[in-house]
Amino acid sequence: MKEAALPSTNGHAPAQQKHRRADDEGLAPSVNGKPRRRQVDGWLDRWVSTTQDLTRLTNTHPMMDAVIDEQQARRIRIGDQWLVDWASCNYLGFDLDEEIIAAVPEYLAKWGTHPSWSRLLGSPRLYPEIEEQMTELLGSEDVLLLPTITHIHMSVIPVLVGDGTIFLDGRAHKTIYDGAMVAAGHGASIVRFRHNDFEHLEELIRASDPALPRIIAMDGVNSMTGNGPNMAEFSRIARDHDVLLYVDDAHGFGVIGERSQDETSSYGMKGNSILRHQGVSYDNTVLVAGLSKAYSSLLAFIALPTGMKEALKVLAPPYLYSGPSPVASLATTIAGLEVNKKRGDDYRATLWRHTDRILQAMHGLEIHTPNVSGYPIIEIPLADHNEIDDVGRYLFDHGIYVTMAAYPLVPKDEVGFRIQPTAAHSDEEVDELIAVLGTLKGRFQLDQLHVSV
Ligand SMILES: Cc1ncc(COP(=O)(O)O)c(C=O)c1O
Repeated sequence: MKEAALPSTNGHAPAQQKHRRADDEGLAPSVNGKPRRRQVDGWLDRWVSTTQDLTRLTNTHPMMDAVIDEQQARRIRIGDQWLVDWASCNYLGFDLDEEIIAAVPEYLAKWGTHPSWSRLLGSPRLYPEIEEQMTELLGSEDVLLLPTITHIHMSVIPVLVGDGTIFLDGRAHKTIYDGAMVAAGHGASIVRFRHNDFEHLEELIRASDPALPRIIAMDGVNSMTGNGPNMAEFSRIARDHDVLLYVDDAHGFGVIGERSQDETSSYGMKGNSILRHQGVSYDNTVLVAGLSKAYSSLLAFIALPTGMKEALKVLAPPYLYSGPSPVASLATTIAGLEVNKKRGDDYRATLWRHTDRILQAMHGLEIHTPNVSGYPIIEIPLADHNEIDDVGRYLFDHGIYVTMAAYPLVPKDEVGFRIQPTAAHSDEEVDELIAVLGTLKGRFQLDQLHVSV
């Protein structure tokens, strides 16, 4: 038996809880509005009960906390079972691109395996090279690289907001939420606005104190629904009220980009992220994203004004204190940027085609998904959350590996699974997936597509 799982999350931040217990009486409210954890209040029992579905799945399900024994292109082997992997975020298939793989040894020969200086001590020339190329690709004023998006949220959000106010999207990614909580520990206030609701946001901003620093923190392409917000409206609010807009586009970078008459698909060109895709400027805005999804490399960035970059070099702890990304990741980033110029739009066209085929097939099968964007994150909610275990097993037994979204990672009415196509899937693998979705539909209660007549 594995240890009981603590819930990791790759989904949304928990909804703010209003629940207060009797033994909280007389205490100042906790900073995040949640019940306090006191030995006497049974918090551990409550927590164990809330997470029991997830714990059971983690302990027993072959598609949770799995060890992958072998990989061949998009097929993976777990024990004796070969499956097609629909759970990775390697959207462009750069993890398998031969030109990118072949580029690595030369960099290792020159730089060794790992720089191991903190960036403030010294950065291999590869860093300024990547920052320059990324600045050009994004069309931003500047770019700062740090190892992961999590590092960026935890360190940069508190610096930017100080003791001001964070307007936090109600379904912001857990890592943005956690960054906001660190900021709250340093004296910031947090105000939640309804997911993607810019009118609600503007009301809250109007009621806030303009003398204090204020930031709006939210996702670009959403990691669960696969949809993107109306960035033009959020950008307008940021400019009109002189608030900083802070956007995490982990899933849009590399996938969607600027529109052009020559574009190979509706994802646009170059993969230079949601702001360029929607034609929105960087005024009053910083954009955060990672290379660990579409670029298959352990690295992340923040696109920002140069003055802010210089300040963060001394104020954001990871630049001073954290180890940097390994040389292999810097190498695959540089090679990936080159491949993106040469073949990125072809890869995006393939990615769009696979995603579109799956979405069309699901429409024909009347299987509901919240995805209305056509971006490559396809969540399939179950009508009955108790079936997640059996649905997962059915998919596993039929050679389909997906991300399972169990309670409490997502609310009970959103329990289901998520499919992420990549450019490296083959047409036959898409056929197989569609066939299995067809038989799955006959056996389990998936959320029905509400077809309007
Ligand atoms: C929207 C979003 N932000 C941040 C992260 C975390 O990224 P990193 O692994 O670079 O910390 C993820 C990862 O799943 C994500 O989906």
